[in-house]
Amino acid sequence: MGFRLAREADLDELVLIERGCPGAPQWSRAQLERGLRSARARLLVLEEEGRLLAFAEVAVAPPDAELTTIVVRRSEQGRGLGRAMLGRVVEEALAAGCERLSLEVGQANAPAAALYASAGFKAVGRRPRYYDDGSDAVLMDLALG
Ligand SMILES: CC(C)(COP(=O)(O)OP(=O)(O)OC[C@H]1O[C@@H](n2cnc3c(N)ncnc32)[C@H](O)[C@@H]1OP(=O)(O)O)[C@@H](O)C(=O)NCCC(=O)NCCS
Repeated sequence: MGFRLAREADLDELVLIERGCPGAPQWSRAQLERGLRSARARLLVLEEEGRLLAFAEVAVAPPDAELTTIVVRRSEQGRGLGRAMLGRVVEEALAAGCERLSLEVGQANAPAAALYASAGFKAVGRRPRYYDDGSDAVLMDLALG
């Protein structure tokens, strides 16, 4: 099992992984593709024997970094892969010289909020009625280094 940067050939599979996760942000192929082209974005995948298990995108703009998406294949959730992927994202942000990692999480997304809180993220704000269903986004920050 290992992490690497995503490639064009991964994108269709990443869309399928995301469609299989009802709570995920449901990025389109075009949105994922921007992660391959943007100078600031790093689209990372976790792969095991050629099978993609998880992905995440981090946008780096030192001293700030933003975790813009993180998704674990539904059948693989709950075995530590989300935590491992988040650790890899932190490494990527640190390597780019970032001092802070921020993100937005849906107020009802208990698994993601628990993951972030256990990794040391603190809630620093809220965007009321941010999502289409009228729910709030919680803004969270992690000091790096
Ligand atoms: C959020 C997500 C990435 C977590 O990945 P995962 O591989 O299932 O999580 P892990 O097994 O690494 O668990 C890490 C921690 O997350 C929390 N967690 C994970 N699943 C949970 C659940 N069902 N309920 C509550 N907490 C949960 C726990 O704090 C857990 O730590 P613990 O095992 O020590 O209790 C995954 O559930 C996912 O892809 N969800 C759909 C997409 C999504 O919502 N992304 C986040 C958008 S902000």
